[in-house]
Amino acid sequence: MTTHSHTARNSPWTQAQRPEYPVLRGRRSFDVAVIGGGITGLTTALLLKRQGARVAVVEADRVASGATGNNTAKATALQSTMYTTIREHRSRDAAQVYAAASTAAVEKIAELATEESIACGLGRQPAYTYAVDDAGMRAVETEAEAAREAGLPVLADETPDLPFPVMGALRLDGQIEFDPVRYALGLAELVHGDESAIFEQSRALRLTDGSPCRINTAFGSLTADQVVVATHSPVLDRGLHFARLKVERSYCIAARLRGVPPRGLSINAGRPVRSLRSHGSELIVCGEGHPTGARGIAAAQYGRLEEFARTHWDVEEITHRWSAQDPTSYDHFPMVGAAVPFSSRLFVATGFMKWGLTGGTFAAMVLTDLLDSRDNPWAASLSPNRFSPASWWELAQINFGAGVDFVSDRLTTGNHIATKDVVPGVARVIRHGTDFTGVYRDEDGLLHCVSLRCTHLGCLLRFNGAERSWDCPCHGSRFDVDGAVLEGPAVQPLEVKTPPESEH
Ligand SMILES: Cc1cc2nc3c(=O)[nH]c(=O)nc-3n(C[C@H](O)[C@H](O)[C@H](O)COP(=O)(O)OP(=O)(O)OC[C@H]3O[C@@H](n4cnc5c(N)ncnc54)[C@H](O)[C@@H]3O)c2cc1C
Ligand code: FES
Repeated sequence: MTTHSHTARNSPWTQAQRPEYPVLRGRRSFDVAVIGGGITGLTTALLLKRQGARVAVVEADRVASGATGNNTAKATALQSTMYTTIREHRSRDAAQVYAAASTAAVEKIAELATEESIACGLGRQPAYTYAVDDAGMRAVETEAEAAREAGLPVLADETPDLPFPVMGALRLDGQIEFDPVRYALGLAELVHGDESAIFEQSRALRLTDGSPCRINTAFGSLTADQVVVATHSPVLDRGLHFARLKVERSYCIAARLRGVPPRGLSINAGRPVRSLRSHGSELIVCGEGHPTGARGIAAAQYGRLEEFARTHWDVEEITHRWSAQDPTSYDHFPMVGAAVPFSSRLFVATGFMKWGLTGGTFAAMVLTDLLDSRDNPWAASLSPNRFSPASWWELAQINFGAGVDFVSDRLTTGNHIATKDVVPGVARVIRHGTDFTGVYRDEDGLLHCVSLRCTHLGCLLRFNGAERSWDCPCHGSRFDVDGAVLEGPAVQPLEVKTPPESEH
């Protein structure tokens, strides 16, 4: 891998100038509290505020610092071979709902950006699903049929703007490329004020269902009649949704090219996934997905994306690299609605399958109706409390896999190496009886030692060498080398361990 040391370790969008919102302190009261300040939480908050509610958004980190700031930034209703997948795992009706909701979400993003003058570089582009081999071509043909049946006006297109041979492609015109961080910051600015508020650096640590509901953070609490959990992987999860989700992490690079980057929003059918678009004079390539917490993850994920870019374009420099993850439900359909059956107080939105810029937006549209007791044509299909018989096997596999990881790691992981043998940039697991400590030595030689017991439900964490984090194979929580929560469903940090005596 030839990525230079000055390659930024974040997406091009996260560098936007941003205001700071206050930390939640003391006791506050609102009509609705939204936990999570990504596109889902912020769009929900804005739409609710527009219909008269006093809304609080409680964000653990900074607005749009999660998946919303770290993706490919395409808002499109054509999403690789999504309609084939939904038809297989849910139903033809569900595919129609997804097409209608995704199309409406694309237009909602355009409408909000235009109406509210949010400067987020929004432009219309054709979206493509392309094939480079026979298997991909068959997948494209099936997707053409499934997408049309779902109501999308897709066209066959032999010539997407790509510099390598393509056997065929599907095209959907009028989709969107934009800067998701500037867009989210624009939404946040509209939410904050007039008795509504955004709170940053305010992780929700406890959620009490009641009348009113209560959310506790480290320095304050707030009460609200209704709560929306929009934390990506649901935290403080009353509906046990984590047991119906599998989480996959993917990687992206931005490459400055000598020459013109490709037009359009392209993604291939099949594996390995290569999701492409341009950003100014740069090419963005995303892919290399794997289940979060998989063994043996290293910087090679980025290397393979870079190699792909250098094979097909004249790359001057890799300017950015970043990664993110997204949960997918067992039946491959987002989960949006009451967090537990019949609740009119607790709501959740999750399971966007790496397409949550549109998914989070239509989730906000559905939640706005549900919180106000209005009918919504997509709500029944999206209900988190559904059961999909066609996918029961996947549900069993998710939970069997988590169980196997829970037990097998305890039997096999860890050894008795001395911490002095841990070299800079490397992580090791040290086992003492049933106690597992993760030891990472940074480039300055400092040791970082944490307990590897995930604070969500106790699975053992695995090191992700591409991101220098401890990741959970069971439900996707992630922690930095000092134990701070990077992603839920966990909300509590890891126990910090002192380095063994020989290190003092
Ligand atoms: C590599 C990659 C590329 C992608 N590309 C696209 C794309 O091109 N188009 C598309 O539509 N989708 C794409 N996606 C998916 C999309 O980015 C996500 O689905 C979407 O951003 C999810 O938004 P969200 O608001 O639900 O979650 P997030 O943006 O993650 O927001 C959740 C927020 O909740 C906060 N939070 C977590 N726990 C707590 C807590 N306890 N208390 C308070 N706050 C908390 C987090 O800090 C975070 O800010 C991609 C995903 C990946 C992985
Ligand atoms: S995320 Fe559930 S046990 Fe780690």
